Amino acid sequence: MTAEPGTRVLKTDRQSIEAAARCLGQGGLVAFPTETVYGLGADAGNGEAVARLYAAKGRPAFNPLIAHVADIAAARRIATFDAAAEALAAAFWPGPLTLVLPRRANCGVADLALAGLDSVAVRVPAHPVAHALLEVFNGPVVAPSANRSGHVSPTSAAHVLNDLRGRIDMVIDAGACAVGMESTIVACLGKNLGEPTLLRPGGLAREQIERVLGRVLAVPLVADETPLAPGMLASHYAPKAKLRLNAQTPRDGEALLAFGPAPAFAGTTFNLSPRADLIEAAANLFSHLRALDASGAKSIAVMSVPHDGLGEAINDRLARAAAPRTIERHGAR
Ligand code: TXA
Ligand code: MG
Repeated sequence: MTAEPGTRVLKTDRQSIEAAARCLGQGGLVAFPTETVYGLGADAGNGEAVARLYAAKGRPAFNPLIAHVADIAAARRIATFDAAAEALAAAFWPGPLTLVLPRRANCGVADLALAGLDSVAVRVPAHPVAHALLEVFNGPVVAPSANRSGHVSPTSAAHVLNDLRGRIDMVIDAGACAVGMESTIVACLGKNLGEPTLLRPGGLAREQIERVLGRVLAVPLVADETPLAPGMLASHYAPKAKLRLNAQTPRDGEALLAFGPAPAFAGTTFNLSPRADLIEAAANLFSHLRALDASGAKSIAVMSVPHDGLGEAINDRLARAAAPRTIERHGAR
């Protein structure tokens, strides 16, 4: 793989991890693999680095970032945990779960990354490369998905380079992400604000979380115009092509995004999971959407996907990808 001058592509050996950690320490931007998607990392405590990160992504500045840490001890220095948060961290960290918690006064995350909120999103990723980077860096790393704002999340280093080559310092290439879908976000903000709340369905299924909590997750109350998880703006996950959801048969001129046994079709076809496995489908979703865009498809017929397990997050992302575009699009990628 080749990158434009300015973006180094690193392997996953110890020397590379140390170089990446040094780069973060100097205020640089490093894209790194997690088990969900690739993240674009910056030193959480360095406001200028965070500002460069927003600029590289073209992200609206009101969108707060997730602080990634190596373990729960580091998370406790940033945020306070109630009983529900403790139970979820014990059950699912390291893993594809982000907790939105009350922030500590000196949490070490730059105000800009918190977007003015009293809460902070924290996550302990399970990917060994992410873990090694966080251990060597020895501090919180804020990391949104490593795509241009409004594009689908990257599940490979090639996706990252398509969106951000020349705009970031480094990318660590560890191949494809196993989960392929962003983390599930749950807010545990204490008694006054209500019970644990699902802010974003993602790579950890709701049913697993509810089993640990012994109760169903609440849905966010939107008290004013401020979205609870601002990244959930309707058209956030956007390929260039138009999507027609729950299609039974593709029409002339469409490409097909299939799930399970596909109808006979001569046009461009990608199958999320020929054996109708929701975990496999989640892992393939974003790379198939990018591949369909790259094929030049103008409209895509998408077969229906069940709503249970990871199907909730898959259907959520498909609905956003199909929504009318509300966010300014950034040039061709
Ligand atoms: O799997 C993931 O979560 C990936 C990897 C790299 O960790 N990261 C990711 O980050 O998806 P991002 O920035 O693309 O999405 C984070 C979401 C955004 O929708 C943001 O609005 C929300 O988390 N968020 C962050 N802090 C929040 C807070 N304090 N309250 C509510 N939502 C928050
Ligand atoms: Mg994102």
